[in-house]
Amino acid sequence: VLPTEIIRAKRDGRPLAPEQIQALVDGFTRGLIPDYQMAAFCMAVFFRGLTEEETGALTEAMLRSGDVLDLSDIPGVKVDKHSTGGVGDKVSLALAPIAAACGVVVPMISGRGLGHTGGTLDKLESIPGFQIGLGEGRFREVLAATGACLIGQTERLAPADRRLYALRDVTATVESIPLIASSIMSKKLAEGIDGLVLDVKVGSGAFMKRAEDAERLARVLCDIGRGMGKRVVALLTGMDQPLGAAVGNALEVKEAVELLRGRGPIDLLEVTLELAAEMVLLAGRAESLEDARCMAGETIDDGRAFSKLCQIVAAQGGEPEALVDYALLPQARGTFEVRARAEGFVQAIDAEAIGLAAVALGAGRVRVEDAVDHGVGLVVHRKVGDRVEAGEPLCTLHWGARGAEHPDAVAERVQRAYQIGEHALPAEPLFLGRIG
Ligand code: URA
Repeated sequence: VLPTEIIRAKRDGRPLAPEQIQALVDGFTRGLIPDYQMAAFCMAVFFRGLTEEETGALTEAMLRSGDVLDLSDIPGVKVDKHSTGGVGDKVSLALAPIAAACGVVVPMISGRGLGHTGGTLDKLESIPGFQIGLGEGRFREVLAATGACLIGQTERLAPADRRLYALRDVTATVESIPLIASSIMSKKLAEGIDGLVLDVKVGSGAFMKRAEDAERLARVLCDIGRGMGKRVVALLTGMDQPLGAAVGNALEVKEAVELLRGRGPIDLLEVTLELAAEMVLLAGRAESLEDARCMAGETIDDGRAFSKLCQIVAAQGGEPEALVDYALLPQARGTFEVRARAEGFVQAIDAEAIGLAAVALGAGRVRVEDAVDHGVGLVVHRKVGDRVEAGEPLCTLHWGARGAEHPDAVAERVQRAYQIGEHALPAEPLFLGRIG
């Protein structure tokens, strides 16, 4: 198969056969097809798109480029959740123990922060001792013993995606729905799951800014999963302002723990319980979504979900004491209040700008090789619809050291992210749709 023929066909809008896609991905993974040809292919896909069949073939080729876990020897239905990424999205930290406490088996392979969005692995690593790089044997043991295990992508899982993603990142070809969908699903399907709940974020802090695009992505993701015999449900949830209040790794761990102790912010609680209920239902642990919601809520009320998180943390080498005594988590060097310059109502918060403010404090990476400062970030005190008087705090910055931006400059970013006006405007809805 000549790569130039495949690129030309896609460039001219002609459909590709599954074998052509398979050969292209195989050649690329084995180093026989150079980056420049694969980049040209991605750009052709960016402009021409892929059919459902082509997207399925690309996903399958990337999935088969590495190992596919077989978890059938572990009893129970395995269901994971994937979020397309947001600001303050610490849902996985609370969701995995809630679902596990309801009897769902949760093999969760998570990612690092990307651009303005945070990553579950960075958050987990702020728990002293927590290991995200377990080998397959230990991954299975923890999963069988506790019902959940949260690790990073291994070298052997969907290696084609890892290479292709890095290439897309530097060739402006990330924002293509079939490429995003095949990238996400190849990794998720390699986990050996039976079902998947997708949280497709929409709004200023999401990669998909418009509901139509998010819905299209959700449909493609669901189609791929179902085409491979998996149970898949997608929720479209709002990301027009940070979820909860905390943005930054240790701060988000603290907020997720507070949620499990019954003291979490309402928006975070609602999204977490809804996704948990979908997981419980997919796993066949409840008769209806309503029952599943109640089951999930009970695990918070009776403390089972919090105990489960402590169990998972201990099994992965972390110190569960840090979930009780927050002083054991990484701390910022100092705090700085960002105060409202005028009175009024918060009409909008640019969530992407808030995410970038957290990155500027050192909570995320500008380059892949950058180290993350786990103690820094920010906590928002006013959300959309809230009234604020001049001089009252909008947000507290938790600043650190290590070459990060000066808190004064970050405070200016936060000021620009807040739109304060005379009239109260309603917040965008948290739930925008369900596909499944
Ligand atoms: N996340 C992924 O895993 N892949 C993409 O292409 C985009 C977001």
